[in-house]
Amino acid sequence: GTPRRHADTDVTLEIDGRSITVPAGTSVMRASIEAGVNVPKLCATDSLEPFGSCRLCLVEIEGKRGYPASCTTPVEAGMRVRTQSDRLQALRRNVMELYISDHPLDCLTCPANGDCELQDMAGVVGLREVRYGFDGANHLKDVKDESNPYFDYDPSKCIVCNRCVRACEETQGTFALTIAGRGFESRVAASQSQPFMESECVSCGACVAACPTATLVEKTVSFVGQPEHSIITTCAYCGVGCSFKAE
Ligand code: FES
Repeated sequence: GTPRRHADTDVTLEIDGRSITVPAGTSVMRASIEAGVNVPKLCATDSLEPFGSCRLCLVEIEGKRGYPASCTTPVEAGMRVRTQSDRLQALRRNVMELYISDHPLDCLTCPANGDCELQDMAGVVGLREVRYGFDGANHLKDVKDESNPYFDYDPSKCIVCNRCVRACEETQGTFALTIAGRGFESRVAASQSQPFMESECVSCGACVAACPTATLVEKTVSFVGQPEHSIITTCAYCGVGCSFKAE
């Protein structure tokens, strides 16, 4: 979802026929979650400020033109929102088709297999075929950055959701990451396009935890596979929330 908001005033609206009251400033996506409705998403998270880049969370709002992104649209009193319709499902499938057409199709050998939000969302929107036949070939020239001792970076799997860049900035206050390039060439880069270990990266792991695919992945997961359990802790030293993965 998107982060919870706190405000002195409340707003009541209707989502898929359910009435819900939330603090002013809450996103339509967060209000939907509070109403028990999950909207498909890729770039939004419970903790990061919404970014509105993936366009998977489109909804219909009575009286408004087009299909606004629910993660970046604030609630309004009396709003009537639909999160499910044939048109929305078709639009979301189209968005997913475009993502998958520019993504390597190596799920069975990918370290994120079974823990990949791109994979999950393809299932959620009912993607059965991809009409745009790139199959990730655009990224064959991408070079992995394995310089960090704790995680690997594989730009071929990046969907440019900006979650890692926002996690670096918002939770760690570091500006080690940026989006470089445009269109097919756009990808996450350590600032100044250096290897991770030569950038301002402090190896906190916030970017790895935020990544929805296997673009940024712990080395242990690459070697050993997905863990059966993970333990999230926080301490007073920093706000990232360390994630220990155990077999
Ligand atoms: Fe709203 Fe990505 S989740 S645009």
